[in-house]
Amino acid sequence: MALFITFEGGEGCGKSVQAGALYRRLSELAIPAVLTHEPGVTSLGKKLGRWLKWAEGTDISPLTELLLFNASRAELVTKLIKPNLENGKVVICDRYDDSTTAYQGYGRGLNLEVVKVINSAATQGLKPELTVLLDISAEEGLARKGTERLDRFEQEDITFHHKIKEGYLKLAGDEPERWLVVDATQSKKIIEEIIWQRVSQLLPRQRG
Ligand code: TMP
Repeated sequence: MALFITFEGGEGCGKSVQAGALYRRLSELAIPAVLTHEPGVTSLGKKLGRWLKWAEGTDISPLTELLLFNASRAELVTKLIKPNLENGKVVICDRYDDSTTAYQGYGRGLNLEVVKVINSAATQGLKPELTVLLDISAEEGLARKGTERLDRFEQEDITFHHKIKEGYLKLAGDEPERWLVVDATQSKKIIEEIIWQRVSQLLPRQRG
């Protein structure tokens, strides 16, 4: 029943809530599942994630960001994602390499071919069967975040966040069979049902 599902989207899109809801639903059905997220989780990933998000006033170049997010990812893929998929579990990951393409590629403006090569090295070519994009305008997503304790990415100007939204839509348009684009302004319950409809179609197929 191994199945790899990722959640993506800009700030305040609600992907963590939906990743959690999917995990709970699978658990209620006694379908073995693991919920994880990027950056973080492994001990190195936690340190890198804290630094990447919260290193106030530290000038981290876009290329360094690309490498550090991917260092965290390489740990997570090797130590958690791959072993759990090999054990036949459903692995749900809140952000994966599409985040890097959207943020460091489209957002920071790094060469997309370079991003692709580095991402692919870190993931060892492991791609999700399904990627859910929770699509929301940059303005609405950021408004949900409020103004207190914003991390390095949330503090970026609105143009950066517009580029990320456009980048995600481009990625989804290029690979429509992998992506499920959901209007993230709908109610949590409706979004949960739309996602479940797609996931439940994939589950029996994976059993074979
Ligand atoms: P989050 O835990 O709220 O999703 O925050 C992670 C932040 O890091 C978010 O602003 C997106 C950013 N990010 C990147 O820029 N590149 C990446 O590869 C990943 C995984 C996250």
